[in-house]
Amino acid sequence: MAKTREHFGGRLAVILAMAGSAIGLGNIWRFPYMVGEHGGGAFVMVYIVSTLLISLPVFLTEVMIGRRSHTNSRDAFARLSRHHPFWKGVGYLPIFIPLLIASYYSVIGGWSVEYFWQSCRQTFVTMSPDGTGALFNDYVTSPWRPVWTHLFFLLVSAGVVAGGVKSGIEKFSKITLPVLFVLIVVIIVYSVTLPGSAAGVRYLIHPDWSELTPRTFAYAMGQSFYSLSLGMGAIITYGSYVKKQENILATSTGTAISDLLFAIMAGFAIMPAVFAAGIEPGAGPGLIFQSIPYVFARMAAQLPFLSALMSILFFLTIIVAAMTSCISLIEVGVSFLMERAGLSRSKACVAIFLFCGGLGVLCSLSFGPLNDLKIAGMTLFDLFDWVCSNILLLLMSLLCVLFAGFVLPRRVLHDEFTNGGTLPFNDRIFPLVYFLIKWVAPVAVVIIFLTNFML
Ligand code: TRP
Repeated sequence: MAKTREHFGGRLAVILAMAGSAIGLGNIWRFPYMVGEHGGGAFVMVYIVSTLLISLPVFLTEVMIGRRSHTNSRDAFARLSRHHPFWKGVGYLPIFIPLLIASYYSVIGGWSVEYFWQSCRQTFVTMSPDGTGALFNDYVTSPWRPVWTHLFFLLVSAGVVAGGVKSGIEKFSKITLPVLFVLIVVIIVYSVTLPGSAAGVRYLIHPDWSELTPRTFAYAMGQSFYSLSLGMGAIITYGSYVKKQENILATSTGTAISDLLFAIMAGFAIMPAVFAAGIEPGAGPGLIFQSIPYVFARMAAQLPFLSALMSILFFLTIIVAAMTSCISLIEVGVSFLMERAGLSRSKACVAIFLFCGGLGVLCSLSFGPLNDLKIAGMTLFDLFDWVCSNILLLLMSLLCVLFAGFVLPRRVLHDEFTNGGTLPFNDRIFPLVYFLIKWVAPVAVVIIFLTNFML
């Protein structure tokens, strides 16, 4: 009896840790606006299919590489390829991608701080619902406020990494994640009952196939990789902590499904409100900051206390979810600087803060004063996000599956996947999974990768 319990606890702990990394702004903030920009229901369908057929096999690959090599992402490739110079070099890529992401991730973290502050001041409860859009515009186009909130968010995150209170924050996120889940359910219930919201529900569940373009595929796959924290060595590192007797298929599928669910739920919380408020679904990165306050402002007319309480809790939980992700993104660079450049932890944190802070300021200003500065038709923020999610993550994931499919012997993967042949179900489906990893994922990623340059 005690044994089964212990085993269950182990698996649940793995899923929770991985889901903690996966579930973040990617699901709540990025997924809904991607849906709005790239084809509504059609995007959602492509996203679900590509999560199950492509991202999940890539996720499994990262976990297997991690567990097999039992080390961090940089050394994993070196060790498993017996120090082949090319693969040794590949291990460096996942050091830089997280830092680029942290730079603009913390801009959105800063927006959550501002909205938390506004919630505490009861701004949404006392203003007319239609005023929430103007509030957002004034805020993001201002040259100062979003820059300060961004730097504040990054400073606290870097401070946590420097002070080593990471595990405390992560324990905290085990509480806030369920709270966020409950809040989203309440918001869904409220938002689907708003007048005009039915169009938003239709928008999500009725795919309009004419909206399906090569762009939809490219962005859906990028979103799916981003949301599962793929292509950054994060899952390789987590994989190295997974116990030998753990069933990799079960834990990875559990993580992917919870991540998917969180994203879809965020879609149902936000899209109906977007339509009810008459906001353009393709409004971009500000989508949740325009639609959710609208919901709270409407709710305040009938239930002022609930609305005030929910808005404070909602933005607080978002801050925590974003901060746990931001901390792990920063930690990669910090540990690299400590080990390779011999910096102390606090000096490394200062260096990373300056680097990400500087880049992030540019991203933040691209919503206001630098809005006209466009590279390849994109603002700096969009460019950063595009380069990371649509190029670098795909590239790194491609290298991972090629490594697993063509460098590692099939026997090694089989051994990891079936725990040495002791899991009959995994054994039976191994040929399918291997085929997905070796052929389907690389071909799909290459096609999408090239599509990105032809759009
Ligand atoms: N997946 C996270 C999200 O959805 C963001 C993220 C991407 C991440 N890569 C990561 C978080 C690596 C931690 C580590 O918000």
